[in-house]
Amino acid sequence: MQCSWKAVVLLGLASIAIQYTAIRTFTAQPFQICPVPSPLNCALSQEVESFDRSCDEFSFFSYNASRKTHVLILATTRSGSSFAGQLFNQHSHVFYLFEPLYHVQTTLMPHLSHSRGSADRRVMLGASRDLLRSLYNCDLYFLESYIKPHPTNHTTDKLFRRGASKALCSPPVCDAFSPSEVNIEEGDCIRKCTSLNLTLAAESCRERRHVAIKTVRIPEVGDLRALIEDPRLNLKVIQLVRDPRGILSSRIETFRDTYRLWRIWRATGRKPYNLDLSQLTTVCEDVLRSVGTGTSRPTWLRGRYMLVRYEDLARRPLQKTRDIYEFLGLSMEKAVEEWIRNNTRGSSDVSAKQKYGTVRDSAANAESWRLKLSHHIVDYTQTVCQQVLEELGYKAVSSPEELKNMSISVIEDKTFVPFL
Ligand SMILES: *[C@@H]1O[C@H](CO)[C@@H](O)[C@H](O)[C@H]1NC(C)=O
Ligand SMILES: *[C@@H]1O[C@H](CO)[C@@H](O)[C@H](O)[C@H]1NC(C)=O
Ligand SMILES: *[C@@H]1O[C@H](CO)[C@@H](O)[C@H](O)[C@H]1NC(C)=O
Ligand SMILES: *[C@@H]1O[C@H](CO)[C@@H](O)[C@H](O)[C@H]1NC(C)=O
Ligand SMILES: *[C@@H]1O[C@H](CO)[C@@H](O)[C@H](O)[C@H]1NC(C)=O
Repeated sequence: MQCSWKAVVLLGLASIAIQYTAIRTFTAQPFQICPVPSPLNCALSQEVESFDRSCDEFSFFSYNASRKTHVLILATTRSGSSFAGQLFNQHSHVFYLFEPLYHVQTTLMPHLSHSRGSADRRVMLGASRDLLRSLYNCDLYFLESYIKPHPTNHTTDKLFRRGASKALCSPPVCDAFSPSEVNIEEGDCIRKCTSLNLTLAAESCRERRHVAIKTVRIPEVGDLRALIEDPRLNLKVIQLVRDPRGILSSRIETFRDTYRLWRIWRATGRKPYNLDLSQLTTVCEDVLRSVGTGTSRPTWLRGRYMLVRYEDLARRPLQKTRDIYEFLGLSMEKAVEEWIRNNTRGSSDVSAKQKYGTVRDSAANAESWRLKLSHHIVDYTQTVCQQVLEELGYKAVSSPEELKNMSISVIEDKTFVPFL
């Protein structure tokens, strides 16, 4: 049969490209090989009959504009990714997950949160890609092998930041809130929704038109190539970057234990001999590599990669969000615009102000790190991350006076045209 012949060839190609658990994919999901011409393509994966028909009519590698779009927000810790995630979470047609790869990391590397060994990294990446592929196909059971304790009867109350996903706090997954409820507090969701039924979550995922996942656990866009080239997916990557001086400053404030030595440096002006510099260098190396991959415009990234500076998002959130939605080919919703107005500069909603305080501050002053970091640390960061700064349009400051003089902006206007 035409269809199965193509499927086998395609599977062969996919296995080589993916180089990871090809056998499991083959045995478990042979019918997801063919792109199904429906926005609900994962729902139809079991319907063999319609699969056969669509395979005959539908040519491989041609995309149906109304297909499900799979969005990945590729970010770094403290680069504004929670805010960026909300831009999708608030959309009623998007099934959004906040950092599901957390479970991969805690299972595979419970004690090595900063491990950068290449073997560890390969294992993590292989498992992460596999999980992402399953999640984009709405196969949430796949996540179970990483959740501890192991879910029973496909229910769990241990999904990381479940409350940060609107879809997981509203019908059909949870009936505690009415669908019209816009601002569900994360804690309220956890309290009122009780255990998460992953069967219902998968149902919700299939019902929604698109899937968006935010992660800080993929080092660079090149690591996603196998997924981007996977014809079963329609993956588009939004890479969120931020001035490394801003990231560092924010981490020093937020992770008081892990960044203790940086605080000592800031306070005493003397760099502790045992300071873990990789806390800074890995950020810059990963971002540089990733942006380098993106700007070199390899054909496999065409139409699939957009670089967004957090500072631009903070300064012009509505405009930037519209640009992002346009790139993705999704229509923006009133609810998303309203959420942005409520949670950025100009808002009078006090609770929102507290929750997304970092965004508000940055919007008002995207360069507040200049008042928080010492000149030594800034100087050092500029040396270590020089190329990233140049690449992304962040200007170095040369003297303590210039550092503290907020009327000299260090953010160049720079447009990153998406590769279409
Ligand atoms: C795309 O999918 C929609 C919904 O299933 C269908 O109505 C439409 O005909 C498809 N378009 C093409 C070009 O296949
Ligand atoms: C799982 O479901 C089965 C059958 O409905 C039931 O007997 C069992 O008690 C359930 N287990 C848990 C832990 O709820
Ligand atoms: C989860 O939801 C499914 C679908 O409605 C249902 O069949 C199943 O019994 C539920 N599981 C539990 C443990 O309630
Ligand atoms: C925005 O704020 C108004 C007033 O507080 C509130 O009624 C509305 O539900 C909020 N909308 C969103 C999407 O957050
Ligand atoms: C800050 O920079 C501006 C522009 O170069 C300059 O006019 C101003 O005098 C400076 N302010 C201070 C306090 O140095």
